Amino acid sequence: MDQLVIQGRHPLRGTIRISGAKNAALPILAATLLTGGTFRLQNIPRLVDIKTFTDLLTDLGVAVKYGADNDSDFLDIDSSGLSDHEAPYDLVRRMRASILVLGPLISRFGKARVSLPGGCAIGARPINLHLKGLELMGVKLRLKEGYIEARAGRLNGAHIYFDTPSVTGTENLMMAAVLANGTTVLGNAAREPEVVALGQMLNQMGAKIRGLGSNTVKIEGVKELRSVDWEIVPDRIEAGTYMMAAGAAGGELIIENVMADHLEAVISKLRSTGLQIEVDNARISVRKKGILHSVDVKTLPYPGFPTDLQAQILVLMALAGGLSVITETIFENRFMHVAELRRLGADIKVEGRSAIIKGVKELNGAPVMATDLRASASLVLAGLAAKGTTTISRVYHLDRGYEHLEQKLAAVGAKIKREKRPD
Ligand code: UD1
Repeated sequence: MDQLVIQGRHPLRGTIRISGAKNAALPILAATLLTGGTFRLQNIPRLVDIKTFTDLLTDLGVAVKYGADNDSDFLDIDSSGLSDHEAPYDLVRRMRASILVLGPLISRFGKARVSLPGGCAIGARPINLHLKGLELMGVKLRLKEGYIEARAGRLNGAHIYFDTPSVTGTENLMMAAVLANGTTVLGNAAREPEVVALGQMLNQMGAKIRGLGSNTVKIEGVKELRSVDWEIVPDRIEAGTYMMAAGAAGGELIIENVMADHLEAVISKLRSTGLQIEVDNARISVRKKGILHSVDVKTLPYPGFPTDLQAQILVLMALAGGLSVITETIFENRFMHVAELRRLGADIKVEGRSAIIKGVKELNGAPVMATDLRASASLVLAGLAAKGTTTISRVYHLDRGYEHLEQKLAAVGAKIKREKRPD
């Protein structure tokens, strides 16, 4: 198994180009199931999660081929051979987002059999809201041998209210509703840019969706959709992670190929920590000058501060000049990185859904273990800041969501390398 070895305390200088967003690409891949045809998806990140999803598409009978041109990788998809409606346990268990095939399959075939995702490291993560919405649209559901078995004639539009805004829930129900009979209204819908990007692609395919980016999304069902070419939006979480890398290691980074609008809450919070941030079109520059200030952070659905950057900003607070409280309101078990950060000398106490962090003068390198995707990113940032050597094992978590992480960081001056872990 691979591990990352980081020699800390080397300031970062240079430019990092942001890849396409994993969380935008996954639902867009699922949307190719809604019609038979050919799609070219540009700016597709080379990530394990994307590979897992394309394996699932292939299993369903879709042809998938990677290619590359000047700037980025693309995927050519031909969904005309879609022949199966079952997402097997072996593929779904590797990634919860596989549940995104449920909406398109039921809406296209009138039937679907999708393995129920299990728990995951950051909490229970139920899918009850996805299922409740489908039932309201006339889908008959039953759970058999660990699989959700769904059946329906043509789906009917419905008024569906999310008790809590769910990103993949909104995406799944949007994809179920685009081919339904009549109008569907999703209340308290998720407003994340990745949801908007999916809706825009569906509209380009011929869907009639209004209210994207607001908490009420209206979908007027249409009879059929056509295939399109589409470009994946830049990854705001990857961008935020590298902005914080400049805060952890020091120096000055230019982050390019970003949509700064998607990072408003993050930029505002990072400015309060004292980082100097300039925004110019698709580029953001981040400069660290002096010690970081402590700030309180609460994760919220978009446009609030993203839970996917909570672990990373916690590292900055571990190095800041005072006391801060970080409150996680989205997932119930998302402080697994705290125990690892303590091994580097961080002073953090977790009380319920809050972490209370007293900034320390320095962190010291140590062996640590990655627990989930974003927690792993936080350990990388801590390693960049720490004195001495930090070795991070279980880096496969990082490969799920960060494209060429060590190459991108090494190119701006980080001393980071990947090696085989001696057993
Ligand atoms: C997506 C993102 C993930 C991000 C998360 C929150 C993808 C592929 N993943 O995950 O990176 O951390 O949004 O921004 O886009 N909930 C329910 N019942 C449901 C569905 C969700 O109670 O049926 C709860 C969850 O437990 C959680 C909250 O709703 O407390 C938000 O979760 P949700 O937005 O669904 O997260 P994901 O879509 O799984």
